[in-house]
Parts: sequence; structure tokens; C-alpha cells
Amino acid sequence: MPGKNKMKNILVIHGPNLNLLGEREPELYGARTLKDINREIANHASLKNLNVRFYQSNHEGRLIDCIHRNRHWTDGLVINPGAFTHYSYALRDAVAAMGKPAVEVHLSDIHKREAFRKISVIKPVCIKQISGKGIQSYIEGIETLLARNKKM
Ligand code: DQA
Repeated sequence: MPGKNKMKNILVIHGPNLNLLGEREPELYGARTLKDINREIANHASLKNLNVRFYQSNHEGRLIDCIHRNRHWTDGLVINPGAFTHYSYALRDAVAAMGKPAVEVHLSDIHKREAFRKISVIKPVCIKQISGKGIQSYIEGIETLLARNKKM
């Protein structure tokens, strides 16, 4: 049906060290905890009538397993892969294998930090990379999925 939004279920994944948000380098990542961030995403998602599942792990394989487990349930993925962004081909392959639109998000601006952070091996399998906007990166990630879906 043209114009009908089929984006109902969204998976939000946080990678390694993001469980420490709030106490981890607050000058870079802000004062809010992962719980605060998830609450804000959940509020936004409920305004948009979306179902959201959240997952955080410090382990590459667990993140991949989560993507596999949810691949039939989810209509799209918002992922902050943490440092795995910069070198995990396995995570990239899992995102590609999922076959659903994905948006890569970062709290800090990875393009204004160390050289190694400018490289993302995940970006090529995502429809967009959003970085440096704090929690807003996640909100825009959800909006990007919704906007793309409307065009289809
Ligand atoms: C991060 C940026 C990564 O380079 C870093 O390893 C993180 C957090 C961000 O949200 O800004 O763990 O993904």
C-alpha cells in the first residue's frame, strides 16, 4: 500500500563499553547513562507507535547473535557498534546478512577524534552514519529508518 509505514519493530544495539555511559569519559560521551538513553529512545518510539528492543553487550559474538535472533522480528536496526565500528568485519557481515535497513550511530563525532576512528567498516552496509549528536544521533537514526520506509 503506497505511503503506508511498515516500519513497526526496531532493534537498538549498543556495543562495548556503552554500559558505562554516565561515568565513562563524560566530556566525550555526556553525563547520561545507558538507561537514560534507552528511556529517551523508548519515549520517542512510542510517540511514533514503534516497538523497540534494546540490547547491549561488550562481546562481539553476542552482538552478532542478537542480530541473528531478531532478524525476522525487526524492520530496521539502529546500532552504535562502539569500537567494533572500526574493525569488526564479523559484525559488518551480520548487519549485511540481516537484510534490513540499518543506521550506524555515535554519540561523539568520530570524524573529529583519533585517525583510527574515522574508519568505519560498518558504514558501507548501513543506509546512513550519524555521529556527534549525543542521544540525538539515536533519535535521528530512528527518524532515518522511518523516512526511508515512507519513500518505499
Ligand atoms: C562511539 C565512538 C567509538 O569510536 C568508541 O569506540 C565508542 C563510542 C560513540 O558513540 O561515540 O565506544 O561509538
